[in-house]
Amino acid sequence: MKKLWGGRFKKNINEEMEKFISSLSFDKKLVKYDLLGSIAHAQMLGKCKIITKEEKNRIVEGLKQILKEAQDGKVKIITREAEDIHSWVENKLKEKIGAVAGKLHIARSRNDQIALDERMYLKEEVLKIQNLLKDLQKSLLSSAQKHLGIIMPGYTHLQHAQPLLFSHHFMAYFYMFERDKGRMQDLYKRIDVLPLGSAALAGTSFPIDREFVASQLGFSGISENSLDAVSDRDFILEFLSASAILMMHLSRFGEELVLWSSKEFNFIELDDSFCTGSSIMPQKKNPDAAELIRGKTGRVYGNLINLLTVMKALPLAYNHDMQEDKEPLFDTVSTLENSLFLMSKMIETMRINKEKMEKSTKGDFSTATELADYLVKKGLSFREAHKLIGKIVLYCLENKKPLEDLAISELKSFHKDFKEEILEILKPQSAVETKDSFGGTSLKRVEESIKSAKEILEGK
Ligand code: ARG
Repeated sequence: MKKLWGGRFKKNINEEMEKFISSLSFDKKLVKYDLLGSIAHAQMLGKCKIITKEEKNRIVEGLKQILKEAQDGKVKIITREAEDIHSWVENKLKEKIGAVAGKLHIARSRNDQIALDERMYLKEEVLKIQNLLKDLQKSLLSSAQKHLGIIMPGYTHLQHAQPLLFSHHFMAYFYMFERDKGRMQDLYKRIDVLPLGSAALAGTSFPIDREFVASQLGFSGISENSLDAVSDRDFILEFLSASAILMMHLSRFGEELVLWSSKEFNFIELDDSFCTGSSIMPQKKNPDAAELIRGKTGRVYGNLINLLTVMKALPLAYNHDMQEDKEPLFDTVSTLENSLFLMSKMIETMRINKEKMEKSTKGDFSTATELADYLVKKGLSFREAHKLIGKIVLYCLENKKPLEDLAISELKSFHKDFKEEILEILKPQSAVETKDSFGGTSLKRVEESIKSAKEILEGK
């Protein structure tokens, strides 16, 4: 293994040690960014006359060739060939252009280089994740629109609480994912800062032009403090935190899809293409994608705790511990991207069982609050009304009668103010319609919310 160091060593590195410290098996993912960053750095060295124009041209040409070969899949990154992606690139460059390759590392260290690669990588991935979130929101929105009017039970404590529009339930997730998108947008600003030029930790004595490199690589700003730039990973931690919250949302949704597709609920049917069968029970159709999205939330939380723990006691500046930031980062990115994609597809293809949803709102006492509100409007205090309706519910339970089947005479025996109109009010449909407060579940409000959601997606 060719190394970027060794002059001061008398002995070779231990073989197990060599494997132990190597990061190439995973940081090879960063090859594109390492090359693009190196190209910009070489151009800057040339521009600032730190290397000659001729040297710059040879280095840039060599790096571009490697980039092309890497992109065309012509060059394989073999793990035992180098210690990390930075060494690998420099070795390859030396093979191509000879000793002048050694000038690329002037005014640069692997410490600012890795921070740069990671920021470039994450900027791209965060944009991808924002787009995937948008796709998911579109799927939710079009389902909410398509199924507008379907009534389902709303739950608290997983007990029937009050009837809702199905679309209202789906739009709740729309807004969760909107906030997730907002978190990603916000943290992007803090990733978008160029660390290169900080060198190992102290900056450099060469007359470099960091602004030039930033503009070449499309960074909005440059880091203020060299020590901070090479030693902090808060931009990754912020991403992992936002990802943990996003996965929590996806997981709750996944859980609902699992429940809703069970025989007991039977509210939805997931498309065959997102389910699997059982090796022993021929009748089974399992909601695997939804389960695995729920399950993979564990690793995303773990990745956050992993890196927080790695970082918590590190003295400034760079420490080799920080090499451990990459696997949790990459794993989180791929888990998020796969989960978001599958969730959108599952929503687009699932079938909604309108009859079962609406049937479930019958005889479930979910309009009992309407009765209480009715008496409050007649002048009772809410507590008095609540107590009285509790008695009516008990009466229904003892007489095995659904609330909506009570005769007006029965209701009147509990309170004289009940009038004929109450029978209408007790229906789930009218219970939904009366929830007309801003953000509520009435048809008009849900239509409004769908409209503003569309405007959000169109960026109005
Ligand atoms: N592979 C290292 C990492 O990922 C790159 C930086 C190495 N710097 C060093 N001084 N050993 O953190």
